[in-house]
Amino acid sequence: MFEQLKKDILQQIESVNDLQQLEKLRVALLGKKGTITEQVKSIGKLPIQERPAAGRVLNELKEEIQRALEVKREELMKIEAEKLSKKMWVDITLPGIRRRVGHRHPIMKTLEEIEIIFVSMGFKVVEGPEIEDSWHNFDALNTPEWHPARDEHDSFYLDSFLLRTHTSPVQVRTMLSAQPPIAIISPGRVYRRDYDATHLPMFTQVEGLYVDENVSVAHLKYTLEKFAQQIFGSERRIRLRPSFFPFTEPSFEVDVSCGVCGGKGCQACGYSGWLEILGAGMVHPNVFRNVGYDPEKWTGFAFGMGVERITMLKYNIKDMRDFIRNDKRFLENF
Ligand code: DAH
Repeated sequence: MFEQLKKDILQQIESVNDLQQLEKLRVALLGKKGTITEQVKSIGKLPIQERPAAGRVLNELKEEIQRALEVKREELMKIEAEKLSKKMWVDITLPGIRRRVGHRHPIMKTLEEIEIIFVSMGFKVVEGPEIEDSWHNFDALNTPEWHPARDEHDSFYLDSFLLRTHTSPVQVRTMLSAQPPIAIISPGRVYRRDYDATHLPMFTQVEGLYVDENVSVAHLKYTLEKFAQQIFGSERRIRLRPSFFPFTEPSFEVDVSCGVCGGKGCQACGYSGWLEILGAGMVHPNVFRNVGYDPEKWTGFAFGMGVERITMLKYNIKDMRDFIRNDKRFLENF
């Protein structure tokens, strides 16, 4: 009795492959109007002596169906859970996203150090415009139109203005707007038509100017030696070599003793024991005249240095272009 029905039903249950379908089948079998429910109801129509046996068989069938449904449900739940966990799988062994913290560019770091050193000696930091006129950039600094020094500063011109080729025009602007004593440094960007391992078209300079009565080369040398010792190390010495700048007389190239060999001569300093760090000199009387100072009364020294160059010497960097390549592998070293 009901053997065929049982086989069919168990097969149906077996072939179901999702939970929704299984629930539908359950209702179709055991719900209020389900196949088995109807069968149970129809027992009442059987002859009275057949009823108990039919009831028993149907009950067993019902229980068997319930078990089969339960087994199937568990099977499908397991499959669903596996699908879900595959979809949501997270590899907890992957590295996290590291947020890197930025820091100052090496040029700005050196510039800040330079400023702190001079400010501690009593110099004031003054800035000037990057777009200059040729009077402030050249003429007032005793560099007239015909002067060969103008050619050395291959300039970027903008109509009658130019991008300043050095921070020296800030000397002029400062002296025009104040009376001595003056002690200033002027940091900033400057521009020249140059580009190779030791020249950038845009670079950074610090200009220095000290004006008072009775200023001598000794003051210049003392100030720059103290500076060199603070930026490079207290064992360093400096030397002045005769040079030429239109705005100073006498003019010097200032060298610092080599940090690698201590001045004996090695590969780092080209076997000379010295490394050039800046230009300097005593302010030319014509510069004083151009700003309305009496050159008989006032004396002064000036200097100018390239911050890129100082940074290269400090950290032994060979190619100036590294400063503007924005390669983090380089920048992270500072
Ligand atoms: N202005 C010079 C340059 O750019 C650097 C310099 C040299 C500045 C000597 C000075 C100085 O004030 O006295 O090459």
